[in-house]
Amino acid sequence: MPSARSVPSLLPSSPTVEDLVRHGAAEFERAGLAYGHGTDNAIDESAALVFHALGLDHADAEAAYARRPAAGDVGRALGLLRERIERRVPAAYLMRRMWFAGLEFEVDERVIVPRSPFAELIEARFEPWVDPAAVRRILDVGTGSGCIAIACAVAFPEARVDAVDVSPAALEVARRNVDRHGLGRRVRLLQGDVYAPLADVDRYDLIVSNPPYVSDEEMAALPEEYRHEPDVALRAGGDGLDVVRRILAGASRRLTPGGVLVVEVGNSDERLERAFPHLPFVWLEFENGGGGVFLLEAGTLQE
Ligand SMILES: C[S@@+](CC[C@H](N)C(=O)[O-])C[C@H]1O[C@@H](n2cnc3c(N)ncnc32)[C@H](O)[C@@H]1O
Repeated sequence: MPSARSVPSLLPSSPTVEDLVRHGAAEFERAGLAYGHGTDNAIDESAALVFHALGLDHADAEAAYARRPAAGDVGRALGLLRERIERRVPAAYLMRRMWFAGLEFEVDERVIVPRSPFAELIEARFEPWVDPAAVRRILDVGTGSGCIAIACAVAFPEARVDAVDVSPAALEVARRNVDRHGLGRRVRLLQGDVYAPLADVDRYDLIVSNPPYVSDEEMAALPEEYRHEPDVALRAGGDGLDVVRRILAGASRRLTPGGVLVVEVGNSDERLERAFPHLPFVWLEFENGGGGVFLLEAGTLQE
């Protein structure tokens, strides 16, 4: 893989895959693109699009870099790189797919691009915080593409998962992903606000959520790429805590006695601590980067 530094922009007449990736990265840097939807630098972003356009496998990257694609394929890759620049659209929307917790998901502009650090927690089956063998019911609030709900269903094969979203459009995407992963019998999609679509008797061993948590001020400063994502998926009022407050308020009634609540709040973590100084938030640490995810045990929550 080439380094992100000093990428040349001149493209040979019959470029290799590596030439295309370097060219794309140079153009991305020149255009001042923003990253953060699955990659964090120009080379990786360019490689994702070039490999996608050429149907190449990242597992075979070394051999792929030396190939010289046919002229038509080069044209297709260049077209995708150009679209990334001109429309400032996240690469995942151009590819209409994204990987999360080792699984592939369909995505489009009805849902945010999956990128939550939740993937790492799910792959570790939330240990040591929960006993995976005891988890029978899971609730995902704000499911979007369904990535967290579906990855949980895969990680906990004995569990049933309810996945709520206020956006009917997002749930259409989630439906496609549930079907794609053959989980229609264990993942139930429900439309409504936070806990509203649940029955009175529904209780969960694990409630997970990556809700909207961006404040109005932060929204105004987001790069163009984020404006392709649904506003309802990011914006959460003046302090970014509108939805998190409702999740906290109803959690004790929705958790089993030994259950846990795990919620991503990103940069709103300090505002949350100030708003709820009495709650014993456990802030989780991640090996793969990311943060701003808290855990609370059922016993510490009150309605
Ligand atoms: C940050 S996105 C997370 C999507 C997905 N869980 C992920 O991690 O990629 C937040 C999601 O919450 C949904 N949402 C926003 N307000 C909601 C509410 N009041 N009740 C339920 N879902 C809500 C949005 O439609 C969006 O799909």
